[in-house]
Amino acid sequence: MDNKSEPARGFGDVFDKSGVSLSLADARLDDAPLIGVNTAFCKMSGYTAEQALGRNCRFLQPSGGAGPVRGRMRSFIADDQLTEGKFVVPNVRADGAPFLNLVYMSKLKLDGKIRYILGSQFEIVRHDDKALGLYEMALQQDIRELRLVAGEMGMVMLGTFGQLASSYSIIAEMRLSDVRGDT
Ligand SMILES: Cc1cc2nc3c(=O)[nH]c(=O)nc-3n(C[C@H](O)[C@H](O)[C@H](O)COP(=O)(O)O)c2cc1C
Repeated sequence: MDNKSEPARGFGDVFDKSGVSLSLADARLDDAPLIGVNTAFCKMSGYTAEQALGRNCRFLQPSGGAGPVRGRMRSFIADDQLTEGKFVVPNVRADGAPFLNLVYMSKLKLDGKIRYILGSQFEIVRHDDKALGLYEMALQQDIRELRLVAGEMGMVMLGTFGQLASSYSIIAEMRLSDVRGDT
């Protein structure tokens, strides 16, 4: 966590002790750079915090592009009415190894305006639904704690737990659209 950022004070503990990949971007700054990543994020991506902080998280996408999901993430971020989203994105680790990333995002409001975006990443491994279930449970626990901390700092974490638990259907949809060749 970048110690100079406001939410670092409260979010730092939850980030540090979480086993799931967590990231925080500052939506007020130009190109929404990352201001916080935890150990699980670094482990999954292969990038150190120093390499990741200050950059937009798109650096994880392949040089040939991430496909139409990139536009969907951009629209989600640009629309203040949309509070929470989940996306399946092709990403690449620091060592060049590709992986499928289930990216969850939830927006944080301060003084009526969207100020920060919380992100969580999960590597989709075929036929490992148990890991997905464990991830969702852990993320729900983290979000609960982050919501409390956000509240103490006068922020509101937007979104519902309903979206959090929707990974199975999102991944299933992705597989269907792969088969059908949808965009
Ligand atoms: C907090 C946060 C975490 C994100 N995590 C990822 C990620 O792990 N992988 C990824 O490909 N994109 C991630 N994104 C999305 C990209 O940063 C970017 O918003 C997306 O590529 C669409 O914008 P662009 O068209 O300007 O690149 C994240 C965004 C935010 C705000």
